[in-house]
Amino acid sequence: MKAIPSNNNPSKALQEEISENDLAEAVDRRRNFAIISHPDAGKTTLTEKLLLYGGAIQQAGAVKARGEQRKVTSDWMELEKQRGISITSTVLQFDYKNITINLLDTPGHQDFSEDTYRTLAAADNAVMLEDAAKGLEPQTRKLFEVCRLRNIPIFTFINKMDRPGQEPLSLLDEIEAELNLATWAVNWPIGSGDLFRGVIDRHAKEIVLFTRTERGKQSIERRLKLGDPEIKDLVEEELLQKALEELELLEEAGSEMDLELIRAGELTPVFFGSAMTNFGVKPFLDTFLKMAQGPVARNSSDGPVDPMSKSFSGFVFKLQANMDPRHRDRVAFVRVCSGRFQKDMTVRHARTGKNIRLSRPQKIFAQDRAVVEDAFPGDVIGLNNPGMFAIGDTLYSGQRIEYEGIPCFSPEIFSWLRNPNPSSFKNFRKGVNELREEGAVQVLYDVDQSKRDPILAAVGQLQLDVVQHRLENEYGVETRIEPMGFQVARWVTGGWSALEDIGRIFNCKTVRDSWQRPVLLFKNVWNLDQLKEEHPELELSSVAPVVSGVDPIAL
Ligand code: G4P
Repeated sequence: MKAIPSNNNPSKALQEEISENDLAEAVDRRRNFAIISHPDAGKTTLTEKLLLYGGAIQQAGAVKARGEQRKVTSDWMELEKQRGISITSTVLQFDYKNITINLLDTPGHQDFSEDTYRTLAAADNAVMLEDAAKGLEPQTRKLFEVCRLRNIPIFTFINKMDRPGQEPLSLLDEIEAELNLATWAVNWPIGSGDLFRGVIDRHAKEIVLFTRTERGKQSIERRLKLGDPEIKDLVEEELLQKALEELELLEEAGSEMDLELIRAGELTPVFFGSAMTNFGVKPFLDTFLKMAQGPVARNSSDGPVDPMSKSFSGFVFKLQANMDPRHRDRVAFVRVCSGRFQKDMTVRHARTGKNIRLSRPQKIFAQDRAVVEDAFPGDVIGLNNPGMFAIGDTLYSGQRIEYEGIPCFSPEIFSWLRNPNPSSFKNFRKGVNELREEGAVQVLYDVDQSKRDPILAAVGQLQLDVVQHRLENEYGVETRIEPMGFQVARWVTGGWSALEDIGRIFNCKTVRDSWQRPVLLFKNVWNLDQLKEEHPELELSSVAPVVSGVDPIAL
């Protein structure tokens, strides 16, 4: 990839024209989603089953096996090797029934970082995966909130029905009450655990029977019309009766199926199944593909950009450094939003106005990479990034546009970053500034300017570990992390003058962000609520307002 003088008009770059029909066909064929779940709910298992249908992997166990193998053979990030975790979230692309599906992979709990949130900014749909015994769990709730910011459609898969679980009606109630999201059950379970007999397909009015195979790993699906006399030999009368009564209740008091509400993220279709035994996964995928939205128009400085627009555009939602430490390489992940992307095309970088030739775009499947020839809205490409791209950057050909930035998500972990060796201050400063620019962590400062040590603010502990590790390995500085004991941050919308009006605030520390804006840190939500009660006039925001075009103050 090469920056070329900006008086070259990117639209004049060598590009094969694509007909409107071909572009429409490519856009029409694409679906993109991320799975949001709490660790152990079965995301890896479900992903694997979905990939099997897409023919992207040949055997069950391949996803895990890949992970295991990576720990042994890859020279991926050193930290990743040491801890045997997967820091990166990548994209898995596969075809199923003539649809190209992009599954944006979000790392699990122990790997949790802002990257997880940012990946959701590139998704058009989300699959919310729940363990039937546990219901909603903390990580799922957090990820859901991020999906809510953009009102993307949510499809719920309630997993592990082959194990004893909570009452299905309470699982729906929980989603409705806690997430303020209406539910519509696509199928309804008959029993659970040892007594799980299958589901009632509401649309087809059929019972899909669940039969365990010998090793209990794969189920055999068999369908019978409701009312078929054979049912009484296969399903206990009592269990079926209970399921039918619950369904009747839903028919009377539950929401109706409404595709518009699903697409608006206000109604979630709910599927019951068991990923491990592969029960209900294929019907889920088939229905999901019918209901999910294709690549959507995204908001930009010029209003929403139609994916069918002939000019290419996309935005950077994730940066990954040191994929290969020998080359210090960095990859920028770009979500294609409109038009056709082609290898070797010249695009303009909205933030700097520079023209860039994208000569080595990559398609990334887990950790494997291949050069990509072209890509369409909904796809994700990896670009080699010699420090040029930042999170939220827009790339375009044709008329200038800039996509809305990706917000900084509310940090929950705050630590002083100490540099015990003053002689390495230059490197320390360079490292902190570069890692902040890259979006590895948010950086705050004490209001007392004489206290120069930065405060690292993150959504997951992993981010702090990565920063320390990279400062040592890439910048040669050993650092010390000192936790501050705060858990909540709020930006003061009215700035410093609003704070002055309030006077002294107790149980709270005021700090500055990289744009010199005031941020309040609290030990807990209780202290925050107390302030809100005492000063309802003070406007606070849990996410940092997006700043475009203004450089932050460096350390
Ligand atoms: P995660 O990626 O969300 O963290 O979850 P993962 O798929 O690794 O699944 C977590 C555990 O739950 C695994 O068990 C997996 O086999 C099990 N599991 C997933 N789906 C189902 C299901 O539908 N029914 C049942 N009964 N279990 C399910 P494990 O013991 O940790 O691993 P393994 O020995 O099975 O590989």
